[in-house]
Amino acid sequence: MQLDKLETKISIEDEAWQLLENSILYYQGRPIGTLAAYDASVEALNYDQCFVRDFVSSALLFLIKGRTEIVKNFLEETLKLQPKERALNAYKPGRGLIPASFKVVTNSNGEEYLEADFGEHAIARVTPVDSCLWWLILLRSYIVATNDYEIAYRPEFQTGIKLIMDICLANRFDMYPTLLVPDGACMIDRRMGIYGHPLEIQVLFFAALRVARELLICKGNEEIVEAIDNRLPLLCSHLRQHYWIDIHRLNAVYRFKSEEYGKEAVNLFNIYADSLPYYDLDKWLPKKGGYFAGNVGPSQLDTRFFTLGNLMAVISGLSNETQAEAIMNLIEKRWDDLIGDMPMKICYPALQGEEYRVVTGCDPKNIPWSYHNAGSWPVLMWMLTAAALKTNRLDMARKAIEIAKDKLSEDEWPEYYDGKKGRLIGKQARKYQTWTIAGFLLAKELIEQPANLPLVTFEQLPLEAVSRACEFELNSIERY
Ligand code: GLC
Repeated sequence: MQLDKLETKISIEDEAWQLLENSILYYQGRPIGTLAAYDASVEALNYDQCFVRDFVSSALLFLIKGRTEIVKNFLEETLKLQPKERALNAYKPGRGLIPASFKVVTNSNGEEYLEADFGEHAIARVTPVDSCLWWLILLRSYIVATNDYEIAYRPEFQTGIKLIMDICLANRFDMYPTLLVPDGACMIDRRMGIYGHPLEIQVLFFAALRVARELLICKGNEEIVEAIDNRLPLLCSHLRQHYWIDIHRLNAVYRFKSEEYGKEAVNLFNIYADSLPYYDLDKWLPKKGGYFAGNVGPSQLDTRFFTLGNLMAVISGLSNETQAEAIMNLIEKRWDDLIGDMPMKICYPALQGEEYRVVTGCDPKNIPWSYHNAGSWPVLMWMLTAAALKTNRLDMARKAIEIAKDKLSEDEWPEYYDGKKGRLIGKQARKYQTWTIAGFLLAKELIEQPANLPLVTFEQLPLEAVSRACEFELNSIERY
């Protein structure tokens, strides 16, 4: 019996590795990335391209396995695609952006070149803000894995990092330390009411600032480094304070006074408790659980739980230790809602009824409990595992992998699942989705070799820096 089990285990992993191999994209004879999906049964659309955010899961796996060349090639080639000059017209990608995806094209002379998509071809023309942030995070993972600091010191890399920082830290209209972005600027690349200051982007921004702070060492970058030093602790304290929801915070928000003007204001964003599902949250929030809200803005507190942002907050050290514990407690206590029969929901709960219609624009792909609207995405399994490792909750990750293992292979590695329990293969899901395959393998690999966790983790920010930032924030609020 045990032998049978072992054999099945080995064959599922072997199958996954074989599929991952098949998805590798070659450019001028060298591996440079992986296709989003290798599913011949449906029209490819742009799934035959290499997506920057999707490739991160495969890349981390390749780094762990010592196959560093493909990651290096990817970093070098995508950097070449980054626009270095100001855009000539408003429909062109801005200086510093990294594309959402790219593909290899052959011209009439038989020469290959890369064609990038910065969202100008994407459905609904969404802007991939997360690409440049993931690119930086992956650059650091590559350096952690290889010790190849030389790559970051190369002039073209220093310029690339600087240009990303320029676009992130540019002068702007709002006065929050968070990053203002349009809807669908990240993994959720369709309209889902996440414009403004969505959690996923803020957490990736936090991690990317930390990478840039570590890697921007060349002379001439002092101003940017200073700007990062100003922004980073403020961003961290802003998210830890204003995005955090637990039962204590809910109580405070429930009894908030509104219409407060000036320096004594407690309800800084003028949140009206009636806009929140406080009865549901009262029931749903475990005593010792908590999480970061999906979005915060003027009279807005989006109380949906967004998985990528919360898990990456734990991994990157954005959450303090108590918050990290609380996030993991919440996942454990609300296992049926968040993990169900397939780890794990992209967000929770789904938008329904009138709210679904208004917020998604009646998007049939995002009907309640489907796709981005609370569908289940196996790729998130590696982030769950990394967060579990970081907080010593390995049992949770093991359980999640066990649930996914046989089903993923039987169902031919779908992109996502639908339903409240995640038991329906996504209505429009691709099969043989690369980040599903890589997410599963990476989760297994991290459990078996936890020493690889530093590929994606950072130390906590020094406490004094964050508390200084809190004081600063209070002072600055007084001023406005
Ligand atoms: C979908 C997903 C996006 C992913 C892309 C390729 O558009 O929403 O996050 O990068 O597919 O897999």
